[in-house]
Amino acid sequence: MADENAADNGRVATGIDGLDSVLDGGIPLGNQVVVAGGPGAGKTLLCLEIMYNNAKKGINSAYITLEEQESVVINNFKRAFPAFSDIDGLISSGALVIGGEDVATRIQIGSDSETYSFGNVISGIENIIRANNAKCVVIDSLSLIKLMFGSQSLYRKYMLALSLNLRKLGVNSFLTMELPYTNTSDMVFSPEFFIFDGTIVMYQNVEENKRVFSIEVVKMRGSKHSLSLAPYEITNKGFKVFSINEI
Ligand SMILES: Nc1ncnc2c1ncn2[C@@H]1O[C@H](COP(=O)(O)OP(=O)(O)OP(=O)(O)O)[C@@H](O)[C@H]1O
Ligand SMILES: [Mg+2]
Repeated sequence: MADENAADNGRVATGIDGLDSVLDGGIPLGNQVVVAGGPGAGKTLLCLEIMYNNAKKGINSAYITLEEQESVVINNFKRAFPAFSDIDGLISSGALVIGGEDVATRIQIGSDSETYSFGNVISGIENIIRANNAKCVVIDSLSLIKLMFGSQSLYRKYMLALSLNLRKLGVNSFLTMELPYTNTSDMVFSPEFFIFDGTIVMYQNVEENKRVFSIEVVKMRGSKHSLSLAPYEITNKGFKVFSINEI
């Protein structure tokens, strides 16, 4: 990532209330972070809020959706966080880009006819990043790639290729990943947790008939981070992480 866009401490802040203190100030420059969680944990909204916060600071940010239509993503984002009044302005100025629908469509159509290779996926992602000079990037999610480009050994190879490419582009990236479980006690380490620089897991434990959200930084290369699970809430003004000051 370009130095002029770097935070003073060599990190990029997420801007999420409470999360940066869990991360000892933010994500180390250039890191690739898996954001994993069960359905409805808030992966998409969390990543959108990070892109929005960075775009507001003048760091061009791109959210690449491989699952939902771009218009649906934007509408859900606006509806969830009505306090974020300048989403349209950031999009029209080019600071915030919501893209990727064509890549997703071509993955789905192309893989049936076997004409759309994983190389095409990488170049589709690269084109969006380069066209917008994005320094912060989300890929939401890795699950479609896993579904379409399949076997375990090939998938690992593809993830390594994606990681190398994001490294070459010099961006900070967040890659969402669906987990088939929601509870802390069921945690399983999947290959993505080893390949990329960081792993953040969003859990939903049920306690006394109520779903309680908590977030954990499982790893973050090149950084100290909190070793505690931090509860979080999703509010009309964005995420709020209740961190314990113990790093
Ligand atoms: N303003 C809000 N206040 C509280 N909770 C909200 C608000 N807006 C959305 N939510 C919660 O956020 C959840 C959706 O978050 P999001 O789409 O980011 O989840 P996800 O982890 O990406 O899910 P999926 O695996 O389905 O993609 C909803 O299920 C709802 O519980
Ligand atoms: Mg999602």
